[in-house]
Amino acid sequence: MERLATTYLGLELKNPIIVGSSPLTSSLDKLKKCEDAGAGAVVLKSIFEEQIDNDAAKMISQTEGFVAHTDGQDFIEEVSRNYYIDAYLSLVEQATAALDIPVIASVNCRSQGTWLDYVERFAEVGADAFELNYYILPSDFGRSASDIEDEYFAVVQAARERFKLPLSVKISSQFTALANVVKKFDKMGVDGLVLFNKFYRPDIDIEKLTTKSSIGLSTPSDYAQALQWTALLSAYLNCDICASTGIHSGDTLIKMLLSGAKAVQVCSAVMKNGHKVIDEMNGSLLAWMDRHEAKDFVDFRGKLAHKRMEDPSQWERAQYMKSLNVEF
Ligand SMILES: Cc1cc2nc3c(=O)[nH]c(=O)nc-3n(C[C@H](O)[C@H](O)[C@H](O)COP(=O)(O)O)c2cc1C
Repeated sequence: MERLATTYLGLELKNPIIVGSSPLTSSLDKLKKCEDAGAGAVVLKSIFEEQIDNDAAKMISQTEGFVAHTDGQDFIEEVSRNYYIDAYLSLVEQATAALDIPVIASVNCRSQGTWLDYVERFAEVGADAFELNYYILPSDFGRSASDIEDEYFAVVQAARERFKLPLSVKISSQFTALANVVKKFDKMGVDGLVLFNKFYRPDIDIEKLTTKSSIGLSTPSDYAQALQWTALLSAYLNCDICASTGIHSGDTLIKMLLSGAKAVQVCSAVMKNGHKVIDEMNGSLLAWMDRHEAKDFVDFRGKLAHKRMEDPSQWERAQYMKSLNVEF
């Protein structure tokens, strides 16, 4: 299996399949299961800044009248934060002690908030790297694209300055000028970019006339956006690209590597088909390497990246010029 070894964020991975942040990575048992199934690394389920703050607010509202003083509220806020952070740090510590594969911690942040005060503790408890999961829903009519981008830059810059750990940023594709934004993250010195996150999307229950939640797992055809952008960006950046969303098969894994990804993240494929898909995907990669007489995949990684192709125009095409030769 050494033929599958790769580096990502400066870490040595025995293969390029990372189990992404999700319920699959929320406890020590589950993390162990990912390692036993052959994963090259794991990203822990994110700790949410929002979750910590809301919980503090809820505790304060429930004790209204009882906690009349501001310093009482401060105390509850601190205890609540510490409760979640301590539980999370304890999971990181247990996971890094129990697993041989790299363990990447993950924070879902809303701002340059309190989470930044805890960053050093992630390194202290042994996290191998840190993934910043940061997304602003661009639904505010009063905020321009550049206002929103500036907020991203400020948060990523703050994270970069505070973290010594390898840092990756997991982003959405929803940027007006994605390549420009990504280049700025790269210049700030992030070690990796995860392209792309797939978000929770609210749904409607048409009988109850209410909104409802949707788990929203990806399908095997959802990989195209990550593939195109990995190919367009990978060879122009110093940082690593980890492809994510819609990676369900060995063929898709190979496509991501050919487009220049250092590694991939999988969640939905494992949730739908079980942990055995990790081994199946690695097996398909090895079989493909044998067919192409590649001793390791460094030989072919990024071969079809935009920068490396004689005619990269296919990666730039967004409109259908010819009508498809299909009867509808
Ligand atoms: C139920 C569920 C929970 C998730 N929780 C997180 C999370 O806490 N942090 C995060 O960065 N991504 C989270 N994700 C997103 C996944 O890490 C991943 O980016 C997304 O599912 C796309 O990859 P996939 O097509 O392999 O599923 C979650 C996804 C699902 C389905």
